[in-house]
Amino acid sequence: MDKLLLWTILLIIGGFGYVNGVHYLDSECSQVQNSTIDTVYQANLRTLLLFVANNAPLQDGFSYTSVGNGSNQVYGLGWCRGDISPTACFDCLNESINIPLQDCPESKGLVIWTTLCNLRFSNKSFFGEVWTRSSSSTYGNAGLDDPSVFSRGFAMMEALAMSVPNQPTMFETSVTDVGKAGERYGLGQCSQDVSKSDCRNCLEELLVSYKTYVLNRTGWEMLGVSCGMWYDDVRFYDNTSSLTPTPNTSGGGESLYQEYIILAFVAFVMLQWIP
Ligand SMILES: *[C@@H]1O[C@H](CO)[C@@H](O)[C@H](O)[C@H]1NC(C)=O
Ligand SMILES: *[C@@H]1O[C@H](CO)[C@@H](O)[C@H](O)[C@H]1NC(C)=O
Ligand SMILES: *[C@@H]1O[C@H](CO)[C@@H](O)[C@H](O)[C@H]1NC(C)=O
Ligand SMILES: *[C@@H]1O[C@H](CO)[C@@H](O)[C@H](O)[C@H]1NC(C)=O
Ligand SMILES: *[C@@H]1O[C@H](CO)[C@@H](O)[C@H](O)[C@H]1NC(C)=O
Ligand SMILES: *[C@@H]1O[C@H](CO)[C@@H](O)[C@H](O)[C@H]1NC(C)=O
Ligand SMILES: *[C@@H]1O[C@H](CO)[C@@H](O)[C@H](O)[C@H]1NC(C)=O
Repeated sequence: MDKLLLWTILLIIGGFGYVNGVHYLDSECSQVQNSTIDTVYQANLRTLLLFVANNAPLQDGFSYTSVGNGSNQVYGLGWCRGDISPTACFDCLNESINIPLQDCPESKGLVIWTTLCNLRFSNKSFFGEVWTRSSSSTYGNAGLDDPSVFSRGFAMMEALAMSVPNQPTMFETSVTDVGKAGERYGLGQCSQDVSKSDCRNCLEELLVSYKTYVLNRTGWEMLGVSCGMWYDDVRFYDNTSSLTPTPNTSGGGESLYQEYIILAFVAFVMLQWIP
């Protein structure tokens, strides 16, 4: 089996963190402090996270629920990229839920986004709200496409941004022939709780960021918490594969933080090979 290529972005920013290629964001993620642990909230959070990780793989890769009452109530949502198997979906979410469970069990809210799955929870209801505060891009050192090839590939992604919201699970793949340069493969997806129009805006916003950060590369990912777009010159999506290659070889990437998030420092992307 091929090695899994994992993009890692180091973020040294108040409230941002990084674990094994996983981006996470939380203003309150802190190490365990035994004096102030709210055991009821933590127990509810644990129940919620396990529920989401166990149920999303059985429900088209999407699960949302709430556990507890009053100040101990916690809301959570998890979704997986639509092409991966239930097993890969579970493995990805199970890894994500370990971040709050192990590193910041007192956290009241956290978002985690990776190539294959997303996790979000909060002590406030957020169902149906699009997350616009952060997103990330990775592109390796995939070469630049010829402008005519690029414009065909990008047109395909723009078409996906229009049609993904109308799919029953807000997930769609696409392929386009670009002549001698081969084919370009695209995938777009939204978290199923958002409205069609919010889904489309979310995807279009990623494409706007794309133009700034990714240029005309042959392979890239633009990941948000409520939506994502993936593009490559090799067929990266597969309904049976549990490991999906991300753009080949080393290169760059950016995390994009909008609104009130203060970007203190973004280190460049490193590659990590997992045997
Ligand atoms: C928990 O509290 C005890 C006693 O105050 C202290 O010795 C211990 O180091 C603390 N553990 C953690 C993980 O903070
Ligand atoms: C919610 O509150 C009700 C009544 O106070 C209680 O019976 C129930 O166990 C609580 N549920 C949770 C998950 O805390
Ligand atoms: C959520 O947690 C934060 C931080 O502890 C607190 O300030 C806020 O009041 C809580 N919100 C709700 C709805 O419980
Ligand atoms: C989920 O992750 C935990 C912690 O890494 C691990 O111990 C456990 O075996 C995993 N569960 C499954 C069913 O793989
Ligand atoms: C990217 O493609 C566009 C449209 O095809 C073209 O106008 C632009 O010059 C290209 N940029 C680079 C850096 O190749
Ligand atoms: C996966 O793809 C194969 C052939 O490409 C097809 O026969 C099979 O039904 C697909 N499985 C799922 C779950 O879509
Ligand atoms: C990755 O890049 C190398 C050299 O650039 C190439 O030989 C190899 O086939 C590529 N692998 C994939 C999976 O595209």
